[in-house]
Amino acid sequence: MRLHVADHPLITHKLTVLRDRDTSSPVFRQLTEELVTLLAYEATRGVRVEQVEILTPVAPTSGVRISEPRPLVVPILRAGLGMLDGMVKLLPTAEVGFLGMVRNEQTLQPSTYAERLPEDLSDRQCFVLDPMLATGGSLGAAIDFLFRRGAQDVTALCLLGAPEGVAAIERQVDGRDVTLVLGALDERLNERGYIVPGLGDAGDRLYGTV
Ligand code: PRP
Ligand code: URA
Repeated sequence: MRLHVADHPLITHKLTVLRDRDTSSPVFRQLTEELVTLLAYEATRGVRVEQVEILTPVAPTSGVRISEPRPLVVPILRAGLGMLDGMVKLLPTAEVGFLGMVRNEQTLQPSTYAERLPEDLSDRQCFVLDPMLATGGSLGAAIDFLFRRGAQDVTALCLLGAPEGVAAIERQVDGRDVTLVLGALDERLNERGYIVPGLGDAGDRLYGTV
């Protein structure tokens, strides 16, 4: 498994505002989108491309374009939806599939309540979006799901991660091609499975309490 933790003052600045409990939902949504676009730059480093020949107004030259099959972006509902626009801005030709997951706040176990993904993901590069990697239960289940469908590799973009969640994903990767791209790696989980210092409940801060 590859782990990349962002180290850039713009990202840290935006994350600081995001963490602040006084930041309103509209600002939180805007910052989430901006942060994803910054993280996507690193996360798409391994996107497959093929060579193409073009004509500039001055001369013929060669360049690259994103290869087929197109990458698949998978936001984990609900909170991952807040990251979708920022990602597809950078990768406009990607297809989008959806996984709905919710964590039981007592047991911390995830369950899947919605799935809208291609049946066959053979040769597909997948980009999973979920702002919070806490215990790793939700992301781990999403990664397993995509590999069972045949995905070639999975890159997860998370705004914040806890060491416990990173370790859990590492344990379950088992030789498969997985990359984690985090905006920051926080200190720990608290007794309720929340990231410390974290930003609270990402879904609630984006969309309100359910
Ligand atoms: C949050 C978050 C992750 C998950 C992380 O979702 O968006 O999906 O918890 O926790 P884990 O690493 O311990 O599994 P939540 O279940 O609150 O659902 P929501 O996005 O609908 O708010
Ligand atoms: N889910 C969240 O939204 N926040 C956390 O800190 C942990 C799980």
